[in-house]
Formats: sequence, C-alpha cells, structure tokens
Amino acid sequence: MTASIIDGKAISADLRSKIANDIKDLQEKNPGFQPKLVIIQVGERPDSSIYVRMKLKSCSEVGIEGVLVKLDGKISQEELLAKIAALNEDSTVHGILVQLPLPKHIDEELITNAVKQEKDIDGFSELNLAAIFKKSASPKYVPCTPKGIVYMLEQEDVTIAGKNVVVCGRSDIVGGPLAKLLEKKGGTVTIIHSKSTPEQLKFFVSNADIVVSAVGQANFITGDILKPGATVIDVGTNYVADETKKSGQRMCGDVDFNSCVQVAGKITPVPGGVGPMTVIMVLQNVLESSKRAAG
Ligand code: GUN
Repeated sequence: MTASIIDGKAISADLRSKIANDIKDLQEKNPGFQPKLVIIQVGERPDSSIYVRMKLKSCSEVGIEGVLVKLDGKISQEELLAKIAALNEDSTVHGILVQLPLPKHIDEELITNAVKQEKDIDGFSELNLAAIFKKSASPKYVPCTPKGIVYMLEQEDVTIAGKNVVVCGRSDIVGGPLAKLLEKKGGTVTIIHSKSTPEQLKFFVSNADIVVSAVGQANFITGDILKPGATVIDVGTNYVADETKKSGQRMCGDVDFNSCVQVAGKITPVPGGVGPMTVIMVLQNVLESSKRAAG
C-alpha cells in the first residue's frame, strides 16, 4: 500500500482564492477599507526573515496590506511593549504578529500577552489560548498551525470523531492546542511528550488512526510503528546533512517519509504539507479580524 500525499500547497491555494474573494467583497461593501497586518521582527534571524517574507508575500496575494516593523535585536522590552501598545490603539491595524523566537533578554510570554486579543491573529495570547480549553468559550483566534491541520484533515475527509489520535509534542502553540481541538472534534487523543518512553510511543502510535508529529526530531515516526492506513501529519522542520545539496543540508520533517509512505493511508510531505497551511491561516485570521472591524 502506498499512501496518498496530502497536498498542503493545493489546499492552501484553494483557500487563498476564497480569502482574496472575501476581501474584495469586504472592500466593495466598505469603500476605503483596507485589511492590514503588522509583523514585528526583532533582530535578524535568517529563518525568521524567510518566514516573514513568506507571510508578507502571501498578504499581497490576497489584498491584505502587510507591513514589516523590523526592530534592532538589542531593543529593550519596554520599547517593544510601547510599540505593541501603539499598534493596539491604531484602528487601521487589524492584526499584529510578533515573529518568534525573540532575543533571550525579552520575555516572550509578556510580549505575546501584550497583543490585544482582537488583533492577536497568531492566537498566542493567554486569553485566546485559554478559550480553546473551555467547552463554552470560542477563541477569537486559533493558532495558525493547529487551525491549518484541522482544516487540512477536514478537506481530506479524514474522520476525527471516534478515532484514536496521537499528537507528539505538547508546545503551547502547536501540540497543546491541537490535541484539545482534535479532542473537541471527538477524537480520543493521546499526547506523546519528552517524558513518554519509546515503548509508549510505539504502543500508542501503532493503535492510532491519526498521528501528528510536532517534536522537531528527524525520523521520530517510522513506518514500522504505524497502523496500516493511518493518516500522518508532519509538523517538523528539521535540517539534516545531505551532500547532494549545495547547502550541504536538506529540510525534512519528523516523519521518516520513505518508510511511512509504504504503510500510511494519507501523509503530508515536508516541505509542501503543513507549512503552507500555517501561512494561509495567518491570512484567514486577518480576514476574520478585518470582518469584525469593518462591522
Ligand atoms: N515562529 C515560528 N512559527 C511562528 C508562528 O506561527 N508565529 C510567530 N509569531 N512566530 C513563529
């Protein structure tokens, strides 16, 4: 059996044209209205610069004005807080995204919580994250990677309710919220984390209908422990040595693709799987914020 490949680029391209149309409609109904996302980048990390460039390019493709505020890596926490406070008050701004990670001298918790809930299109503030965990509350914004994964599974008609789901990783922005979202959709969810044993990993993954890996470790999931026909979602972005590449390295996920593709029913590639879904959900969240602002 060979798995079918879940094409994150195609799913996100489809959603991109819907978002572009919605923005056009919004502007027709509200002449002069311009959806706007401000991305704050502190310092010059090359990986962050790549992600920021991708997000800005995607904004321009759907009619969102993307503005980059690039700040010196030595900026004080107070100055950064003041910048965010000013953007919170600026009614022309509908989304604020502070690119992570931040330099060590800055408290990420404090900064992500400083973004006003209505503009927190990353969904990283405590108010938005907490709402995911309440039965009765719905968050204004769901973090983009978990939101993109749920959307992707639904587009692929993968049944979640009543299924065994394993989420590897329990970060505040991916594994934790994703596990809760999938449980809310009716999945029976197990979280594998750094204290889980290899025996537990094997036991739970071999019984899972859906496996999501977000641990940041190449070859974490291998075909020999998968249940035949399982859906495999790879969130990892890792770099491993590859002499055939000019850079000497190649990007790969957490999943050993070659062995898993032989056993899984559906599988996401890296790149071209979850990555494009994360970017498109930034745009979707800015659209939602803009709709609220336009009334
Ligand atoms: N750094 C890596 N991924 C993300 C993301 O989704 N949002 C932000 N703000 N920073 C990131």
